[in-house]
Amino acid sequence: MANDRFSNIQACVFDAYGTLFDVHSAVGRHKQRLGTHADAVSALWRTKQLEYTWLRSLLGHHVDFWQVTGDALDYALDAHDVDDAALREDLIQAYLNLSTYPEVTSVLQRLKQHGMRTAILSNGSPMMLDAAVTGAGIAELLDAVLSVEDVGIYKPDPRVYQLAVDQLGVSAAQISFQSSNAWDAVAAATFGMRVAWVNRFGQRRERLTAQPDAELKTLDELPPLLGLES
Ligand code: LAC
Repeated sequence: MANDRFSNIQACVFDAYGTLFDVHSAVGRHKQRLGTHADAVSALWRTKQLEYTWLRSLLGHHVDFWQVTGDALDYALDAHDVDDAALREDLIQAYLNLSTYPEVTSVLQRLKQHGMRTAILSNGSPMMLDAAVTGAGIAELLDAVLSVEDVGIYKPDPRVYQLAVDQLGVSAAQISFQSSNAWDAVAAATFGMRVAWVNRFGQRRERLTAQPDAELKTLDELPPLLGLES
């Protein structure tokens, strides 16, 4: 249902990993080889990947998300005593071609049918995002793919969210930002964007700064939220 907070939206900006692309689909493709460790490795890989972005931002030692993703994978495999170079290579390569969540393509198509501008704003490096977007076949449905590499620091630094404002030429309040990462949703709301938290995983709300303006189960609920479909 339409929400007044989203009545003047000029652009829809999406987080990438966890929101459009299923980060657990990399391990999913090689589940047998990881045996009973598979789900735990995938979860730890993601947790460490995010921790390393936050820690590197605080340390002032930036490396791109490809490096961080590889480092986090190495940690996760090591933590589960998995020592298999070929598997490591297959897992990291799988990260370049993650599955999209089922509704992603059709929602982007619906937004474009209504003339909405669309973009990704992600920690991902340009190489990773290009591979993911091309592999998913959604390049033509996106007006911009924005990487934190342009500012050299990770979310939730406000310079990242400012990048979308600068590149799209609209105000923060004219952007609807979608993320399934609750902390990312909080950060965008704190920055001043209108925020739809796509709570795919039934998480609890973060006790941080601002709250998202809306909570969705999947992106299917986005066009009606924006008043584009009755
Ligand atoms: C991203 C991470 C936060 O795509 O999932 O920016």
